[in-house]
Amino acid sequence: MLNLDGKTALVTGAGSGVGQGIVRQLARQGATVVVNDLDQAKADSTVAELTSAGFQASTAVFDVTDAGAVRASIAELGPIDILINNVGNAGAVPMEMAAFKDSLPENWPKFVDVNLYGVMHCTHAVLDGMTTRGWGRVITISSAAGRMGLNIGVSIYGAAKAGAANLMRHISQEVAANGVTCNAVALGLMDTVPEEFTAHAIKGIPCGRLGTPADAGYIVGFLASEEASWITGQLFGVDGGSAPF
Ligand SMILES: NC(=O)c1ccc[n+]([C@@H]2O[C@H](COP(=O)([O-])OP(=O)(O)OC[C@H]3O[C@@H](n4cnc5c(N)ncnc54)[C@H](O)[C@@H]3O)[C@@H](O)[C@H]2O)c1
Repeated sequence: MLNLDGKTALVTGAGSGVGQGIVRQLARQGATVVVNDLDQAKADSTVAELTSAGFQASTAVFDVTDAGAVRASIAELGPIDILINNVGNAGAVPMEMAAFKDSLPENWPKFVDVNLYGVMHCTHAVLDGMTTRGWGRVITISSAAGRMGLNIGVSIYGAAKAGAANLMRHISQEVAANGVTCNAVALGLMDTVPEEFTAHAIKGIPCGRLGTPADAGYIVGFLASEEASWITGQLFGVDGGSAPF
């Protein structure tokens, strides 16, 4: 069950955090994983962990916001069966929070570039191969901030995350007949965020704890499997019950 033997999975931003939980799970299910990151050292360290545990893994260092680099790198990798668009937040720079009225227009593109254009670049580069081969999975990591309004200064980030989730819905309709599914996962607050930001917020999570990279890995592992072939165009909340709709 949920076996991914013979499949190759590319996970963006898998050199740390949530992406590491995703590559660990996909590798356990039998996939050969390609660990993308901007940062060579982080990608290498994730691959070293996986290969020393006996899994098949390699690195692909590129910036998801650079359309040319994405296309060239993915062409070099060969067939990708499963794409996980995991890179997000503010990309390579720290997340800055500001109410929309106080935000500076020059700070908006960094959120849209990584959370929406990055998803478009990677998805566009793999989709033709998936539809031609008649099998594929595209799973985009979105956020609770892309499903609901929050008064925590993340409106541009949330707008880009909502855009990426809706992109999955549209593409799902275009490629379903070719055996390719496209879904999104809206994560709640994860334990990859520094404690000073989470200490208060944790009280509002009905399950009483932050999410872990493993929690993200479990749903992605299911959506990537053959058993999930009739599930497409959906956005799944994985958030400890924080957004129950
Ligand atoms: N952390 C949370 O609480 C939370 C909540 C909801 C959703 N999310 C989403 O989950 C995903 C993973 O979050 P995280 O906190 O683990 O990520 P993270 O900020 O730890 O970054 C993951 C990796 O992405 C790499 N990276 C950054 N920009 C890149 C780029 N342009 N190209 C390639 N690699 C790049 C970084 O080097 C890093 O190793 C993101 O999409 C994020 O928006 C996170």
